[in-house]
Amino acid sequence: MSEQFINIKPGTLLAPVPAVMVSCALPGQKPNIITLAWVGTVNSEPPMCSISVRKERFSHDIIRDSGEFVINLCGQDNLADTDFCGVRSGRDVDKFAERKLTPAAVPGFTAPAIAECPLYLACRVTNVLELGSHDMFIGTIEQVGVNPALMDEAGRIDFSKASLVAYNHGNYYALGKALGFFGYSVAAPDVLKRRMEALK
Ligand SMILES: Cc1cc2nc3c(=O)[nH]c(=O)nc-3n(C[C@H](O)[C@H](O)[C@H](O)COP(=O)(O)O)c2cc1C
Repeated sequence: MSEQFINIKPGTLLAPVPAVMVSCALPGQKPNIITLAWVGTVNSEPPMCSISVRKERFSHDIIRDSGEFVINLCGQDNLADTDFCGVRSGRDVDKFAERKLTPAAVPGFTAPAIAECPLYLACRVTNVLELGSHDMFIGTIEQVGVNPALMDEAGRIDFSKASLVAYNHGNYYALGKALGFFGYSVAAPDVLKRRMEALK
């Protein structure tokens, strides 16, 4: 067999990934925001997410001590704020105030969501894994908040209205055109035509 690949140094090359703003807070203190790309969905029932945070981040101890974090999805309108919250520390700046972001109360949580974002997932920490450079906080999603502007007439979330952003090795991208849907490769021709038409 001929050489199919060039093997390179092992690294974190999974892509694309999301870039999100994670809000966190301790009772009686100002909330903070940290931008994260090492974020994932890790279970369906119960719904769970993970975030990986370096110990030296200001947000790390807030998340550890409060036992909660709120993932705010990043739309194109939120991108400059997302980048900013990933290059400035809450040790030095009040990121909500500096970026004129609006804290939105999350039922049962100390940390607020970010009202300007399309959707939030509020998570209660269930496990912490010390992996090396990062600690992975795994949490159960206890609250989901959707910006009313995303809802269609049937009460469903229309993600096409969210203009979500993807992160690919240091650069941010808009999502491109829809190419298919779950199961499209085996869909009946009439279903394929109808669904693809609806995706345009
Ligand atoms: C796009 C992007 C993704 C990032 N992803 C992570 C991440 O997954 N984990 C992490 O610990 N830091 C990540 N960072 C760095 C932190 O967001 C950054 O150090 C931030 O200033 C920490 O804020 P804090 O000190 O207020 O917690 C990322 C930064 C950017 C711009």
